Amino acid sequence: MRVLLLGGGGREHALGWKLAQSSLVREVVSAPGNPGLEEVGPTLPDLRIDCPEAVAEAATAFDLVVVGPEAPLAAGVADAVAEVGIAVFGPTQRAARLESSKTFAKETMRRAGVPTADSAAFVDPGAARSHLHGLPAPYVVKADGLAAGKGVVVTSDRDEALRWVDRCFAGDFGEAGSKVVIEDYLEGPEVSVFSICAGGEGVPLAAARDYKRLADRDAGPNTGGMGCFSPVPDAPPDLVEDVNRLIIEPVLGQLAAEGTPYVGFLYAGLVLTGEGPKVMEFNCRLGDPETQVVLPRMTSDLAAVLAAASQGESVDMEVSSSTEAAVDVVLASDGYPGRPTTGLPIDGVDDAGAIPGVLVFHGGTARSQGRLVTAGGRVLNVVGLGSDLAAARHRAYQAAEAIRFPGMQYRTDIAGGV
Ligand code: GLY
Repeated sequence: MRVLLLGGGGREHALGWKLAQSSLVREVVSAPGNPGLEEVGPTLPDLRIDCPEAVAEAATAFDLVVVGPEAPLAAGVADAVAEVGIAVFGPTQRAARLESSKTFAKETMRRAGVPTADSAAFVDPGAARSHLHGLPAPYVVKADGLAAGKGVVVTSDRDEALRWVDRCFAGDFGEAGSKVVIEDYLEGPEVSVFSICAGGEGVPLAAARDYKRLADRDAGPNTGGMGCFSPVPDAPPDLVEDVNRLIIEPVLGQLAAEGTPYVGFLYAGLVLTGEGPKVMEFNCRLGDPETQVVLPRMTSDLAAVLAAASQGESVDMEVSSSTEAAVDVVLASDGYPGRPTTGLPIDGVDDAGAIPGVLVFHGGTARSQGRLVTAGGRVLNVVGLGSDLAAARHRAYQAAEAIRFPGMQYRTDIAGGV
């Protein structure tokens, strides 16, 4: 099978690496890809992956298209690929509203009886501001649409929450902020759970925990994720099965009943509250960086499962994970998550990758005049594998210390004290 993988971040490098391990897969071609994915297979750097027509045309040379990021899904790429008769793993544009509209996700959850924070949506800044004045801290304010993980603030400072409302309506997050969702704060540890979904059923993968704030001890601004680990020792033992049964499948059933069957990864960002797991957000893709720890632990053939699921039938396959632990430390550029400095030379990637039990997944990297250089905010993921989280963490930080680029920043507390 020839697979076209859309995307070029750390998540896609991990997806490509895993898909290429299947005996069913002859070639993984990624678009646009990145220097890490170039080691997996050919890349199509010029394919406009958010353009449904362009992707559909390219897809006719492949047996399966796997969509990594949310933007092509929200643009309708999966619909266009299916229309030309090529198998695609990723939800339709309508189903992808679970991520591209927080209001749609909330309404679907309410109809499906899925536990989530109470919320209210606003298109009027004045109404949003007065709603905030009536709420206790902490405040959670979200741009309704896709904002690359940057449209959310969680703060105990009401002025900051009010300023966030203003930023949304001022267009700081583009069209995504023309509607604002204000929701109750959920108290408890967070955990990310993923299912491979088709035919109204989900097959759960291992759980992971992500670190969203930039700096140690959860200081600094929210980011796309600065590191993560899997398994999650403080999660209940049957968490992923329970979430799949009580949250994922009711949502899939609700969508199907509304004429919107869902095929693709579904990622539930959860808070383990005193009343049980509640959904903070849904994403219609795998997490980044969580994929970089979940897939190295997966012992099943990912390509076989995705190929079966792309037919839309329920996937009658067990997906298993090793008992090994994985820890990912994200190496980020100076200026991230605001304006990252890019184009700087990176050294030590081969040395890091040569450490036993270490994988290096590229995120924001590029080649310039034969050199590996920084090309984005989250540059590299160094993943340590080990018999437990402490061993995996030790390897990840050994690898982080082997890599250098000017202004490199990373958290030193990923998987610390768990
Ligand atoms: N790690 C958070 C996300 O992928 O949205």
